[in-house]
Amino acid sequence: MRIRPHIEIDSNKGLLIGGLPAVKLAEKYGTPLYVYSEDAIRESMREYTSALTDIYPHHTIVYAGKAYLTMRMAEIVHEEGLWLDVSSGGELFLALKANFPPEHIVFHGNNKSAGEIAMAVSSGVGRIAIDNVTELERVQKEAASQGVVQKVFLRLTPGIDPHTHEYLSTGVIDSKFGIPMHSGQHLDAVRLTLASPNLKLMGIHCHIGSQIFDDSPFLLAADIMVDFAAEVRDKLGYVIPELDLGGGLGVRYKDAGPDDGNGIRKHLRNAAKRVAEACFRKGLPTPRLFFEPGRSIVASSAVTLYTVGTVKALPNGILIAAVDGGMSDNPRPALYGAEYEAVLARPSGGGELLSYRLVGKHCEEGDTLVRSACLPELSPGDVIGILVSGAYQYSMKSNYNHLPNPAVVHVAERQSFVVVERETLEDLVAKERPFSHPLGKAGPEAASGG
Ligand code: LLP
Repeated sequence: MRIRPHIEIDSNKGLLIGGLPAVKLAEKYGTPLYVYSEDAIRESMREYTSALTDIYPHHTIVYAGKAYLTMRMAEIVHEEGLWLDVSSGGELFLALKANFPPEHIVFHGNNKSAGEIAMAVSSGVGRIAIDNVTELERVQKEAASQGVVQKVFLRLTPGIDPHTHEYLSTGVIDSKFGIPMHSGQHLDAVRLTLASPNLKLMGIHCHIGSQIFDDSPFLLAADIMVDFAAEVRDKLGYVIPELDLGGGLGVRYKDAGPDDGNGIRKHLRNAAKRVAEACFRKGLPTPRLFFEPGRSIVASSAVTLYTVGTVKALPNGILIAAVDGGMSDNPRPALYGAEYEAVLARPSGGGELLSYRLVGKHCEEGDTLVRSACLPELSPGDVIGILVSGAYQYSMKSNYNHLPNPAVVHVAERQSFVVVERETLEDLVAKERPFSHPLGKAGPEAASGG
């Protein structure tokens, strides 16, 4: 039975990821383990890249690397013809190391450091998405000192509530991101960009939030952005050639049917049509349209595998199964109350289903991965897979309690391979400098002659 694209449950082999038994992957690479199906990743990328070819060919899909970025992933993004959104010098560095073409990179961030700006300009990134006027001046200065003209987007905040988790709402007027479309600040920012000799204003950008299911806030954003482009033309005589509507399409973590689809095509077509209509109304040429999806490309392509260590029954009847990872490899339940679905990796053989609270091994009561997972009776050693684990898990991992980070494995053409090695205990202490205290190894007592 297919439960997600390229993820199945087989009555003889159990959970299959990209056709390979999860139990075997766990045996071979250990757990916890992030396992991605490359076919699933490529399929959703192709849905994005093909959705508009007939109705709005002048468009670019930029994968938001913050959702999941490894050097192998950067290669896939390039092979599939997408651009890449990076939001820090670290993500940019990784992309360049993976030979990602810099001219296809959009550099984001609400507080880019001087070093990051210098790195972005010198590596020749395709667009810098400028977040605020201070940054605008810094980018102008840096581009001037390097003697180049830098192509930029202006990130604007349209003042839209997308009705998602408050931490994921970035388009509201009191957001920390972007230039508020309020009291003329946005028009002033455009004026300043146009007057900056080393900046070329390519487009305006907005990203209203993440994990959004309803299309209407996106459509409203499209209207607001096009209206503003018309205002810029009318007041400043400049036709903005590009419009970036950000990412944000929601993903079903639980209870998705195998053929529910992810709504990518419909979402993109609705937004593109709305932009075209709004431009027609305003007598504007249609801009080159950019979208920046992250979650909807990678979320359902991965499963995180864990091994059950202990199982207990509480006095109130609740069954607890503790696994060998937890909030360090997936902070999303603790941070956003995110809900997931867990499946058993081995063939279950039918039998009664029980409700388990799946918890991690961290020293924190909030370290619960799934509040109520419906699973066959579990025993220590059983491997569990958490579905839809591909977005914002690997990228938000930590070393809480000094747990080494899991390995990342990709599966393609029924072969598995490591794309990030499992961290070792030695890695965890590699940056420690215990003997560097100026008073010497033994500290103050030895120095005082004590
Ligand atoms: N573009 C910009 C400028 C963004 O800030 C983001 C996400 C995206 C695109 C991609 O959005 P997506 O298509 O993935 O929704 N850590 C949170 C999600 C934070 C999203 C941050 N920005 C989570 O785990 O749910």
